[in-house]
Amino acid sequence: MSKQEEMEKIAISVENCKKCDLYKTRNKPVVGYGSVDAKILFIGEAPGRNEDLQGKPFVGRAGKILDELLESIGMQRSDIFIANILKCRPPNNRNPLSSEIKACTQHLDNQITLIQPKIIVPLGNFAVSYIFEKFGLKIDKISNIRGKVFETNTIFGNIKIIPMYHPAVATYNPNTINILKEDFRVIKDAIEKFR
Ligand code: URA
Ligand code: SF4
Repeated sequence: MSKQEEMEKIAISVENCKKCDLYKTRNKPVVGYGSVDAKILFIGEAPGRNEDLQGKPFVGRAGKILDELLESIGMQRSDIFIANILKCRPPNNRNPLSSEIKACTQHLDNQITLIQPKIIVPLGNFAVSYIFEKFGLKIDKISNIRGKVFETNTIFGNIKIIPMYHPAVATYNPNTINILKEDFRVIKDAIEKFR
């Protein structure tokens, strides 16, 4: 089976998933978007209103910021893969519950194992906590660790983890966009090392 076919299998299991109650209130699940051969995997929190309607990740205001950040380092969405911690939208964009994260991250884990990225960029507290715990890294406040490169060993080799603020923060705190731009330079430098 090709990687693309494997990803379609994951998508079908997400579409049929009833492992938490969010399937009852969502419109479309958001499996993820991008290249299955991407070297970089971005992980957000959960679909918002626009994502839930379109079934695609980061298509609202936070998505505009993400596109601007990618462009600032000469990349576009087809160069990366974007997924979320939760595949279904929590009502009124409330925070994910730990039970929902526990239920849903099997799908994300399958995506990580399939893509085998060289760099994972978790965006915001929920993604950062999950990824740090999964890969046995010591967690600290996001303001202390954002834009730093953490290395970890996985079943598919050594990878880098670069935690960042969630781009949605930049929609209500304009200073954050500059911090995010700085942190995206760190991604660019890290990519150049394995080119
Ligand atoms: N915020 C997220 O965390 N994920 C999305 O897909 C959109 C907004
Ligand atoms: Fe399944 Fe995840 Fe949707 Fe819950 S949020 S129903 S675990 S796909």
